[in-house]
Amino acid sequence: MFDKDMLKSILAAYGPSGREQTVSDVIRGYVEPFADEVYNDALGNLIAVKKGTSGKKIMLSAHMDQIGLIVVDIDENGFLRVSNVGGVNPVISVAREVRFENGTRGVTYFETEKHGAKDATMPELFVDIGATTRAEAEEKVQIGDVAVYVTNFVELGNRISCGALDDRIACAAVVEAFRQMKSEHSVYAVFTVQEEVGLRGAGAAAYAIEPDLNISLDVTLTGDTPKCSRMSVKLGAGATVKVMDSSVIVPPIVRDFLEKAADENNIRWQPEVLRAGGTDTGAVQRTRGGILSGCISIPTRYVHSPVETADMADYEAAVQLVCAAVAKKELPHR
Ligand code: CO
Ligand code: ZN
Repeated sequence: MFDKDMLKSILAAYGPSGREQTVSDVIRGYVEPFADEVYNDALGNLIAVKKGTSGKKIMLSAHMDQIGLIVVDIDENGFLRVSNVGGVNPVISVAREVRFENGTRGVTYFETEKHGAKDATMPELFVDIGATTRAEAEEKVQIGDVAVYVTNFVELGNRISCGALDDRIACAAVVEAFRQMKSEHSVYAVFTVQEEVGLRGAGAAAYAIEPDLNISLDVTLTGDTPKCSRMSVKLGAGATVKVMDSSVIVPPIVRDFLEKAADENNIRWQPEVLRAGGTDTGAVQRTRGGILSGCISIPTRYVHSPVETADMADYEAAVQLVCAAVAKKELPHR
């Protein structure tokens, strides 16, 4: 069983890239009772430390930020024009309900003159917050404010659908593992910032921590929906052990370490090759003189949409795999 309330509250927190403080505060509340030390660094990464006795350090990382729409201009009729923060698909962003940090609600649509919604581009998108003039809009929203999709937590049997599963479901998995884990190594649970805009937070945190091993947790795509692009990963078939994505080729010694930890504890896992898209795994790997870095992913459908969908069995497998990995005496090394 999993802590559904914890997962829900981490999912519900407002936190597009660069504005992760609310998420950080929510997560801090959950990890603090289990940590020897909790702090934010200058970028906003949240770091919870559990001290060990081996002299070795393991970093766990999951990103707190979600994608969003940033206000670039407000027109004379009070419509907001927006740009993407991270990988926002404009077609998926038409006819959505959105919210700003101060609670202001809006709905999105697009310029209908030239073509239909399926060809909508980001410059053609606008947000209607119910204002009729620029001045009226400016009472609620400023240039540079960021909106996120309003989404629901939908339970589909053992599966859940919600916005921001990328990557809050992995944040929750790290919290859950941090609560349960036993390790003789010092464990640094790092909840990173600004992953969606180019893996900006994780590298700085890893530089400061200088871990012997990093394990990132993120979502990954699946190849199990109608006529999707071919990929071996399936929902409900276990947590994944990443082989490659566009930011990283995981060293075989790190994969072996994670796969053995899974096999020894009868945890379901599947290998993952992600065609496009990067993760904090790669940013950490290139820090300092190079850091051994691997990744456990939670298979997720419809990533970067308001209905990201995952299977709770995979979530629980990811939690168990993290616990099994940090419990191992011998860490991978060259
Ligand atoms: Co993402
Ligand atoms: Zn992610």
